[in-house]
Amino acid sequence: MNLYDVYPLNDIEITKAAGSNVWDANGQQYLDLYGGHAVISIGHTNPHYVQRLTEQLNKVGFYSNSIKIPLQVQLAEKLGQVSGKTDYQLFLCNSGAEANENALKLASFYNGRKKVIAFKGAFHGRTSLAVAATDNPKIVAPVNETDHITFLPFNDEQALADEFAKHGKEIAAVIIEGIQGVGGIKEASKSFLQKIRSLCDEYNAVYIADSVQCGYGRTGLFYSHDWAGVNADIYTMAKGMGNGFPIAGISIAPKFKPWHGQLGTTFGGNHLACAAALAVLEVIEKDNLMKNAAEVGAYLIEELKKFEQVKEVRGRGLMIGIELREELAHVKKDLLFKHFIFTGEAKPNVIRLLPALNLTKDNADEFLVAFEKAIKA
Ligand SMILES: Cc1ncc(COP(=O)(O)O)c(C=O)c1O
Repeated sequence: MNLYDVYPLNDIEITKAAGSNVWDANGQQYLDLYGGHAVISIGHTNPHYVQRLTEQLNKVGFYSNSIKIPLQVQLAEKLGQVSGKTDYQLFLCNSGAEANENALKLASFYNGRKKVIAFKGAFHGRTSLAVAATDNPKIVAPVNETDHITFLPFNDEQALADEFAKHGKEIAAVIIEGIQGVGGIKEASKSFLQKIRSLCDEYNAVYIADSVQCGYGRTGLFYSHDWAGVNADIYTMAKGMGNGFPIAGISIAPKFKPWHGQLGTTFGGNHLACAAALAVLEVIEKDNLMKNAAEVGAYLIEELKKFEQVKEVRGRGLMIGIELREELAHVKKDLLFKHFIFTGEAKPNVIRLLPALNLTKDNADEFLVAFEKAIKA
């Protein structure tokens, strides 16, 4: 049997990993500023994480949501505390797309409506409604197509107000990334997020903050959207939540009332997944990783802005986009194969940095030295 070949692969096999470094099968060391796509939040093979998962695996790895799982309650408490949303409710699932799918479904259950506002450049996942709300027709299959989604220009308050004026009573939800990731590290402005909040309040629509990539402390705030000083009704999260163990969740405002069977999943919130997520939050808290992400990120952004070959540096904390001039399209590959540094990418010609939140200033300096060589080559 062959693998179903959907991923363009780099010819590298990772056999060892620790902190912000990985090693390939030949023993070559790499600096990891990609974190397996924003997933490695507390560093590879973090000792506390490995210990907590190992201990849990030796007790019980999995049982379904038909029994009490106290680890879920502990996780909800900890997440409420670290995110500052102690009165919100937690539903656990397995991936970012599934989190968004559930958030959209919950919004529609809540106000009985069908229309969803999404934005140009958005990425919300690959399942049916999540992919329909994703601005990339190439990955939307005919069966996913729906009239329920309207795409508006990102950060355009007037277009949003006009849409609400026309269809406000039909709009179930507005879904938005705090910082668009796949879209090229583009930040939603404070006033745009505030406008979403006020229009959703006025029309009883649901504000969904897709925090799958930009959340979980990466920008120095637990949810990047919160820099606007207003709460979302539902926050969706995944990637950094389990440091590589598949777990996702939605944080749901108190006004939503659950009933048995409303949402559900077989694997969501299992013992191992909760142990992984608890270990991540414990490390984030104990090692003050949100502060570190803000500080090391600010340093990187400031230094990167000094390079004249860089068109623009965007982002906040450790979610950084470096837009390069077209002739520097080779830099990402050179960073990987000549300087042994993993980074991510986005179009057009944007290098994406999504490292672990405990990236050190020395790691950042190592990158800056290599980056300077790569853009001058
Ligand atoms: C903002 C955002 N939302 C949702 C998703 C989908 O997450 P997953 O791949 O876990 O389904 C992603 C994945 O890249 C993402 O960046």
